[in-house]
Amino acid sequence: MDKNFYITTPIYYPSAKPHMGHAYSSIIADFFARFKKIDGFKVNFLTGTDEHGLKIQRAAEAKGIDPLKFCDEISLTFRNLSKTLNLTNTDFIRTTENRHKESVQNLWKELEKNNEIYLSKYSGWYSVSDEAFYSDDEIEEINGKKISLSSKSSVEWVDEESYFFRLSKWEKPLLDYYKDNPNFISPSSRKNEIVSFVKSGLKDLSISRKSFSWGIPVPNNKDHVIYVWLDALTNYLSALNYPDTKNELYKDFWPASMHLIGKDIIRFHAVYWPAFLMAAKLPLPKQIYGHGWILSGDEKMSKSKGNILDPLEIIDKYGLDPLRYYLIKEVSFGNDGNISQDRLEDCINSDLANNFGNLCQRVTSFAIKNCDGKIPNNIEFDEDDLKILNKFKSNLNLIREKIEYRDINFYIDFIIKSLFETNKYFNDQEPWNKKNNLLRLNTIVYTTLEIVRKISFMLYPIIPESSLKALKIFEIKENDIKFSSIENNDYLKKNTKINQIDILFKKIEKKYD
Ligand code: MSP
Repeated sequence: MDKNFYITTPIYYPSAKPHMGHAYSSIIADFFARFKKIDGFKVNFLTGTDEHGLKIQRAAEAKGIDPLKFCDEISLTFRNLSKTLNLTNTDFIRTTENRHKESVQNLWKELEKNNEIYLSKYSGWYSVSDEAFYSDDEIEEINGKKISLSSKSSVEWVDEESYFFRLSKWEKPLLDYYKDNPNFISPSSRKNEIVSFVKSGLKDLSISRKSFSWGIPVPNNKDHVIYVWLDALTNYLSALNYPDTKNELYKDFWPASMHLIGKDIIRFHAVYWPAFLMAAKLPLPKQIYGHGWILSGDEKMSKSKGNILDPLEIIDKYGLDPLRYYLIKEVSFGNDGNISQDRLEDCINSDLANNFGNLCQRVTSFAIKNCDGKIPNNIEFDEDDLKILNKFKSNLNLIREKIEYRDINFYIDFIIKSLFETNKYFNDQEPWNKKNNLLRLNTIVYTTLEIVRKISFMLYPIIPESSLKALKIFEIKENDIKFSSIENNDYLKKNTKINQIDILFKKIEKKYD
């Protein structure tokens, strides 16, 4: 089995500061990276910023500063956001770095060598906001303004010399590839959309621009810069030192396991990117996963609509783990999700404070008072104990499989259900009434602590900081967390000290009118 896992986020445009949609992509990618890591995989996790193109050039011009200086500043806010979100990314790439420019120019030369590129003229629509070319039938006119039907962003007419990529010839190979690799485009709703787009016919794609200069020059023709999407997509390879395909990073991690993106950029990733790679005779990534949008009041969050929930403000107010938990739980993965502070507060109170935090506090306080502050030594599991303990063992492979199918909601529902069951088990078993039967009292405490340990392991990819705080009860450290050990029912070392821990989550006082 392939024990290497390479996951990427989209590289973000530094044209504005980070918002919740960016935070969402990054947090989900971190969930998978952390899960794979504790499941014994060698993980490469890439994120970064997409810094070329007309959109960035104009944003810098509007501020009256040099585009690189502009990018330096905003790229830093994205780099800092990665730290604030506690991401385990192993690299952060900027498309203005030399390592990236060299990769892109090499890929271009490879395409040229394979006769995949020709010089001609582009006359058509271009959206600077999407950095995308649109044909007449993808445009509508509203109040005298031409806009893209799909993204609603305004388009402008372009008439200039341009290099083209022979995209049309890849129509059949792409359709065959989608058919032979049914999970390549996920979820399936996104696949259907792409298949019908490709079936409707692919035209050759303009891959250079001549009328502005903020980009990577086309090799041997300095009048043109490379189209920003060809430039940006190549980041996934340049971070592995492409074109050096003999180095360890490339050998271990290409093809990527999963490009995680938002659904609005699926066409670039599921059509153009695999076509570029096929044309360059390079292997294709194993999966393009297009997640849904984070909505606020049923609309996509966006600067122009003024409905942005700022991740930094939310983290300041509630802390990071509540936000990570909420986004992972509340948005059904693959679909759009509506988020609100009200629901976030409910989540903190019911799942995190009442369900998880309370269980940790209750059982440790009880053990400290009644078991000499140590993991009980003398125990004997009965049927009730084994029933609740063995659920982890019997579901271990199912959980792995669900993660393979990107079913995050199954994972989190399993945790929530287990927490309910464990709280109920502790109540029903009434260890406080077993002071005359110490064997039973000790066994109930051991069982409950074992489950707190298992659940904390499972929570690590979702709320890493809180999981590690809970594991301080047992002095378990980050490197000790192995997913496979949730099947072990006597992991906790008997007679070792139990530590009281601080409250994990503070309940939010809610005001009702
Ligand atoms: N630079 C390109 C990606 C290049 S990848 C080779 C880009 N950047 S972006 O900053 O505009 O968007 C980055 C990601 O954020 C996209 O996946 C996009 O779908 C996602 N989101 C932007 N707004 C969003 C929401 N409101 N909700 C969820 N994600 C959305 O596109």
